[in-house]
Amino acid sequence: MTEGFDEHGQQASPCTMVIFGASGDLTKRKLIPALCNLAKDRLLSPQFAVIGFSYDSLTTEAFREQLSKDIREFAPEALDDKLWDWILERLYYVQGDFQDSAAYEKLRVQIAAAEKAHSTQGNRFFYLAVSPKFFAPVAKQLGQAGLTQETDGRWSRVIVEKPFGRDLDSAKELNRELKKILSEQQIYRIDHYLGKETVQNLMVFRFANSIAEPLWNRQFIDSVQITAAETVGVEQRGGFYETAGALRDMVPNHLFQLLSLTAMEPPISFDADAVRDKQAEILHAVQVPKPEEVTTMAVRGQYGEGMAGAERLPAYRAEPRVSAASNTETFAALRLEIDNWRWSGVPFYLRTGKRLPRRATEIAIQFRRSPFVLFRKTKIADLQTNRLVIHIQPDEGISLRFGAKVPGPVMRLGLVNMEFDYARDFGRSHSTGYERLLYDCMIGDATLFQRADMVEAGWRVIQPVLDVWSAVPAERFPNYAAGSWGPAEADELLTREGRSWRPIGEEHASSEPNAVPATVGRATAGVH
Ligand code: BG6
Repeated sequence: MTEGFDEHGQQASPCTMVIFGASGDLTKRKLIPALCNLAKDRLLSPQFAVIGFSYDSLTTEAFREQLSKDIREFAPEALDDKLWDWILERLYYVQGDFQDSAAYEKLRVQIAAAEKAHSTQGNRFFYLAVSPKFFAPVAKQLGQAGLTQETDGRWSRVIVEKPFGRDLDSAKELNRELKKILSEQQIYRIDHYLGKETVQNLMVFRFANSIAEPLWNRQFIDSVQITAAETVGVEQRGGFYETAGALRDMVPNHLFQLLSLTAMEPPISFDADAVRDKQAEILHAVQVPKPEEVTTMAVRGQYGEGMAGAERLPAYRAEPRVSAASNTETFAALRLEIDNWRWSGVPFYLRTGKRLPRRATEIAIQFRRSPFVLFRKTKIADLQTNRLVIHIQPDEGISLRFGAKVPGPVMRLGLVNMEFDYARDFGRSHSTGYERLLYDCMIGDATLFQRADMVEAGWRVIQPVLDVWSAVPAERFPNYAAGSWGPAEADELLTREGRSWRPIGEEHASSEPNAVPATVGRATAGVH
């Protein structure tokens, strides 16, 4: 049993949710299952309705029927029939072209009808699960149809999915376009990484525990590694990926969210702007590389053919909708520095890639070595340092590595891990990762959404890398085998500074250098 947590939040305000692109994958895989979870936790108001809006010619009945089938496949746990009926009677569909103002008139009529039928009090939010090229046109049409007005205490919000721009200029332009119609408070830029429990837990770990903060600086921390590794290739997304690449796809958004939450100063409160001010501040403090530095601080890679166990994996260039001469990177690693008092001189190494050996997203905080005084006779290589790892997925938890005496008559040091495991200590979560984000939008809490300045600050840091990489094509792509940990240059990024990437998946003592076999000693900690 865990103690001391109030699991019951307040019910969200009455509102209508409009999903643009409702016939797409996100709706059936994430959004509708997330609404079911919120309804189950009684966090949705009974005065609630959902309108799907899309180009596909469906009726409300057909939409309901389709989702009734989909939900059986995608609900994270067995679905209660009554709960599904509750959702179903609040679901509507409007067919239309996102660029056609007549469609917005139809939408306006349907919203008015849903508002009347479900007493949603004129509050609404629009979830744009559409191609980014439609973000600005849809916002404009919504504005022209009078659907973004906030009068008489009613609210109207717009959620946009990534990618938010494809470089600094296009992100700025998109912000400008959206702000012609919406105020910053009405724009909710989603980054699904912020829906992950362990990412949210980062703030709690750092700021609700007095042991973390005093150590959280250059005096005690040697370096930080942030990894988002995927085993999948580009699957059916080759067309999109060819225009994006690993750096754009993952770094200025997901990885920078992790970086900013890890490195930010304590906010003065958990108010949206207090937290986001601190995140933005850290993103502004990241050194922007000069073009001539790009080759030493950034590494790109592309997977060639490889093996995963007995399975042969195709090269990126052989994937569907990928050019046979593609120069798109499927792996990126960066060495960044943060120019502030707390982090000066502490490198932050970031890496992300497709077709790596293991799916793992984590932040590893590498502490400095303790003075050798007491262990003069121990080989330096045997004196391992403390390391705190925040496991974000697929396993969620935190582990701390420390030295312990191996039992026996001689003084021998071993490494053990102290572990907190979310599933073990709090039970397995059936969350889709979207519950908190949808709920926060309905209660008007934008803490977990990106502000315009944060998005732009992220692009600012990687812009020189994008520029250099597009001006100078990669010389020897493919440069890593599918199923391996990326190109050799990514290792060199650290080895030339006397460091190495953490061997992911081998955190249990037995596989670390100089480690004590797990059977000899593994300390575990739980919240009981
Ligand atoms: C998306 C990227 O934003 O994040 C994908 O476009 C990537 O390429 C995905 O696979 C990773 O998300 P997660 O939650 O699986 O780490």
